[in-house]
Amino acid sequence: MAKRPAGGVSRPAGTDTERPSTLRVLVIHGPNLNLLGEREPEVYGRTRLSDIDRGLKELGGELGLEVETFQSNGEGEIVTRIQRARGKADALLINPAAYTHTSVAIRDAIIALGVPTVEVHLSNVYRREPMRHRSTIADIVAGRIMGFGAESYVLALRSVRSLVESSNAKQS
Ligand code: DQA
Repeated sequence: MAKRPAGGVSRPAGTDTERPSTLRVLVIHGPNLNLLGEREPEVYGRTRLSDIDRGLKELGGELGLEVETFQSNGEGEIVTRIQRARGKADALLINPAAYTHTSVAIRDAIIALGVPTVEVHLSNVYRREPMRHRSTIADIVAGRIMGFGAESYVLALRSVRSLVESSNAKQS
C-alpha cells in the first residue's frame, strides 16, 4: 500500500503523470455563521451558509477536491472536529468567526492537525473594530483570505492543491 506522507496525499509510485489524486479538504465555519444571509447582511452579504457549502462541494468536484463542511457555535466542538480530521484531511479551510480573536484551543488543534490551513473571513477584519485585528492563528496558517464575502471561501479552495503540493515538496 502507498505510504501516506505527513501532508496526507497518497500517490502510488509511478503515477506522477496520471490524473492528480483527490485531496480531502475540511471546511470549518465558526459561531453565528449558521445565520449567514440573515445576520448583518451589510457586513457578511446575503449568501446563506448552505449555498456556500454547496458551491464549495461543486467547485471541489471540478478541482479534484473532496470537500467536507462543518459548522458549530461551540469552541470545543470545533476542536473535536479538527482532532477527528487527523490523518483524514489533506487541508483545512477555517473561518473561526469570533473565536479567531480569542481561541488558543483552536490554534493548538490546528497545529496538532499539521496540514496546510487557510484562514478565511467574509469581511476584511482590518476595516473593523480593533478587537477583530487580532487572530490567534494568523502566524500558524499557510495564508489568510478575507474581505471578499462568500468568494473568500472560493479563493481559499482554489489555493488548496498548490498549498498541499508545496507543503509535500518541502517535506520530501
Ligand atoms: C468573521 C469576522 C469575525 O470578526 C466575526 O466575529 C465573524 C465573522 C468574518 O468572516 O468576517 O463572526 O470571521
